[in-house]
Amino acid sequence: MTRNAKAAALPRLRMLDLEPRSGMDAAEVLDGLRQPQKQLQPKYFYDEAGSKLFERICDLPEYYPTRTELAIITDSANAMADCVGPSAVLIEPGAGSSRKTRLLLDSLRTPAAYVPIDISRDFLLASAAELAADYPQVEILPVCADFSGALTLPEPSVPALRNVIYFPGSTIGNFTQDQAAELLTRLRELAGARGGLLIGVDLLKSPEILEPAYNDSAGITAAFNMNVLARCNRELGADFRLNAFRHQAVFDREAGRIEMRLVSLADQQVMVAGEAFSFSRDEHIVTEYSHKYSLEGFATLAARAGFVREQVWTDPQDLFSVQYLVSA
Ligand SMILES: C[S@@+](CC[C@H](N)C(=O)[O-])C[C@H]1O[C@@H](n2cnc3c(N)ncnc32)[C@H](O)[C@@H]1O
Repeated sequence: MTRNAKAAALPRLRMLDLEPRSGMDAAEVLDGLRQPQKQLQPKYFYDEAGSKLFERICDLPEYYPTRTELAIITDSANAMADCVGPSAVLIEPGAGSSRKTRLLLDSLRTPAAYVPIDISRDFLLASAAELAADYPQVEILPVCADFSGALTLPEPSVPALRNVIYFPGSTIGNFTQDQAAELLTRLRELAGARGGLLIGVDLLKSPEILEPAYNDSAGITAAFNMNVLARCNRELGADFRLNAFRHQAVFDREAGRIEMRLVSLADQQVMVAGEAFSFSRDEHIVTEYSHKYSLEGFATLAARAGFVREQVWTDPQDLFSVQYLVSA
């Protein structure tokens, strides 16, 4: 079947569109670049091109998180399904390709619905349609929204017993501790008293494993990082010279996080949405944090949000964890 014929054969889905900004928010970008430590928010990685690059990152040999999390889910999908229980609505903020969700859906008992939430509209719709074709027995209710804002969720057409939030990929690591505690609190409220949170959390480990994961030899992570500057040029009329910046990812031991940066290769001035920004040589913009946790450290963070851990699954090398949390 040709690609077009395949797309035409996919089911048409009703998408709840909370209309997150599809483009970059100039005020937010300018505010980030005006900070003493210049920064751009990681959600801006994910336009169509960025979402596709992220999928390629997931398959890189150096990028252990995706394959490790997939292996943990494959090994323990039945135990995870026992935690989720029957007739649950599975809600995934930042669903992306929903690749990991498929493993879970294979094991869940009579899920009431699956609600993938993503800011990347076209990517969300395409992934949700493919999922609906492959899982005709599961009601798929995509929501286009920014999960860091208020969320309204669609009602499944069959009665549900509980909401379970699925938050894999250690996306929680992109937030500082205070932001993460706030987001987890909102997810606990969304899950409700009878619900739960199944979350992927990347674990602290040696920089010899961590740094190559974000500095791959094929340069895909670099392209993913640089894409944010290309977006600024396209969407905000900025004049970043892409060859005047380079990708860098370093592990900050004290903060327990990988910092993704774009480093200026020269003293230069860049116009963004009509405002001039000066960069000195070697000055950087922070584009993403990826916090790593010990099991105890994450339990402390979860407790701040009113969660208690019911189950934890790890791989044999303790690289990554999947945890099931419920209201304390
Ligand atoms: C790192 S991917 C994770 C995908 C998938 N959950 C996984 O674990 O493989 C992050 C996804 O979250 C989406 N995303 C990032 N920030 C978001 C936000 N603030 N609101 C909604 N979606 C967001 C991106 O578009 C992307 O598809």
